[in-house]
Amino acid sequence: QQHQKPAQQPHLPTSVSTPSLGRSDSLLLLSEGFVAPVRLKNGGEYRLAEILSRREIPVSPSSGGGNADSSLVMYYVHFEDFNKRLDEWVSADRIDFTGVQPPRVRPPGSGGSVSGGGGIAGGNGMANPVSGERRSVLGAAETGVGATSTAASSVVGVADSVSNSRAGTPDSTASGGPHHHHNHHQQHQHPLLNKKRPYSAICLADSGVDQSEDEASAASAAVVGTASANGGPPLPPPRQTGSMAHNHDDNKVMRMKNIEWIELGRYRIKPWYFSPYPVELTKVACVYLCEFCLKYLKSDTCLRRHLTKCQLRHPPGNEIYRRQNLSFFEIDGRKNKAYSQHLCLLAKLFLDHKTLYYDTDPFLFYVLCETDSVGCHIVGYFSKEKESAEDFNVACILVLPPFQRKGYGKLLIEFSYELSKLEGETGSPEKPLSDLGLISYRAYWSQTLIDALLEIKRSAPNENDPPSVTINDLSERTAIKREDVISTLQHLNLVHYYKGVYVIVLTKEALDAHSRTQGKRRIRIDPKCLQWQGKDWSKRGRW
Ligand code: ACO
Ligand code: ZN
Repeated sequence: QQHQKPAQQPHLPTSVSTPSLGRSDSLLLLSEGFVAPVRLKNGGEYRLAEILSRREIPVSPSSGGGNADSSLVMYYVHFEDFNKRLDEWVSADRIDFTGVQPPRVRPPGSGGSVSGGGGIAGGNGMANPVSGERRSVLGAAETGVGATSTAASSVVGVADSVSNSRAGTPDSTASGGPHHHHNHHQQHQHPLLNKKRPYSAICLADSGVDQSEDEASAASAAVVGTASANGGPPLPPPRQTGSMAHNHDDNKVMRMKNIEWIELGRYRIKPWYFSPYPVELTKVACVYLCEFCLKYLKSDTCLRRHLTKCQLRHPPGNEIYRRQNLSFFEIDGRKNKAYSQHLCLLAKLFLDHKTLYYDTDPFLFYVLCETDSVGCHIVGYFSKEKESAEDFNVACILVLPPFQRKGYGKLLIEFSYELSKLEGETGSPEKPLSDLGLISYRAYWSQTLIDALLEIKRSAPNENDPPSVTINDLSERTAIKREDVISTLQHLNLVHYYKGVYVIVLTKEALDAHSRTQGKRRIRIDPKCLQWQGKDWSKRGRW
């Protein structure tokens, strides 16, 4: 059996090579809530971090720790402006006690940590502050939409607009920062929302179509509707449907990682977040999962015994897609409750803001597998409400860390939109999106919309007469919800207001960036390999 061996990273240090605090140094003990500069794991840099917990480990004299009554103090810290997956136990020598700050006042509903921590990092624990990393991640797209003056080559008209008030733009809803800041910012920038638009259907620069009264008032009403009494956008109340129903982020225990390692098939994986596995499992060095039924076991021996009995070699449910070695299985959360619950427990290790644990009945699960002669090995999944009042076509989405950054995230997203197309609907992912969720959706939306615009342009009867397109057209073609179409075009800076009309300008840079990402995208969904028909769950009484 090939294991990806864990880095030598024992949870608790066994020797004390650094100044350990004796109990007498109680002045230097930090309590929960205090904030101090803490040295990052992979480098000398110090970042402000909140103390979430503290524990003291008695150190025996033989291990070099000095007096028998000394102890090693460990702090569980959350780095401000970094994603929670970077939270860790640190020894006191990584803390700069000269910079300690008193506890911050936490805004209600801020999700536990003061800063929220929206930073981006891979599963390898490499960290970057939000701004820096986002620049590098989204750089390709941004640099691709430079000067409009070079743009004459590809112009597509764009029509109509919609408020993004309810769901907010992805920026405003990405997990992490306080939502209202982003929201405010977004609305200021939004060309389709901010300007009193004289035209709704925008074709070419010189061929605008008048906007109907209805549309104009709907758009402005929607914008007005988002403003709160004090002038700022309102904070929506926490939703209790979808996958948000069991969110205990304010609970201290649930803010801390509780599982050290998991072993799943060939992989040993370090969890990112808390997951409510039975408490006995939080005490073992590694939790062993059956890679087929996802049952959790406390030892390798138990897993081997289980594997002699477990009949599954693929997820339960129907295989609805197969192309080469990739398959999707559809699992009904009511019919396959145990599997669905095990999947949610596993997913929670890598999903911070949301997940459902027990009530899986209202959901379907679409599990992506790589198949070989042994069986179908889980790569990732997304869940979807059987009925969504808010047009969500994905509740939670996950690619397991060993498979991340290979294009599977976009493949899952593409699959979710293929299902929406077959349902004849447009859809959007449930909010909030995580930092990685936002990056992946942004990347998918950008590529898909530019593809659609190129297609529209190619099929235009007259090359010199650029075609007109509405937001609805783009939405219907791609099954991407209107709000997301608008926010993406705006984010890519493709929409320009020119001589009284909105024009989409596909610059050479945008197209170059697009073809670069297209070139990298090797795995795609082939709709011909999808055997699926949507069900009308509303007609079925209880699911
Ligand atoms: N840092 C920077 N960029 C990244 C990272 C990262 N760590 N991970 C992915 N990306 C970028 C990729 O470069 C790619 O962009 P490009 O096409 O412009 O190059 C894009 O994101 C998508 O990459 P994929 O390889 O297709 O995505 P991946 O397989 O890594 O899956 C996913 C993305 C599902 C979000 C994964 O990171 C994950 O499971 N994260 C943990 C769970 C999570 O946050 N899920 C989303 C929650 S939101 C919701 O559930 C609705
Ligand atoms: Zn099993």
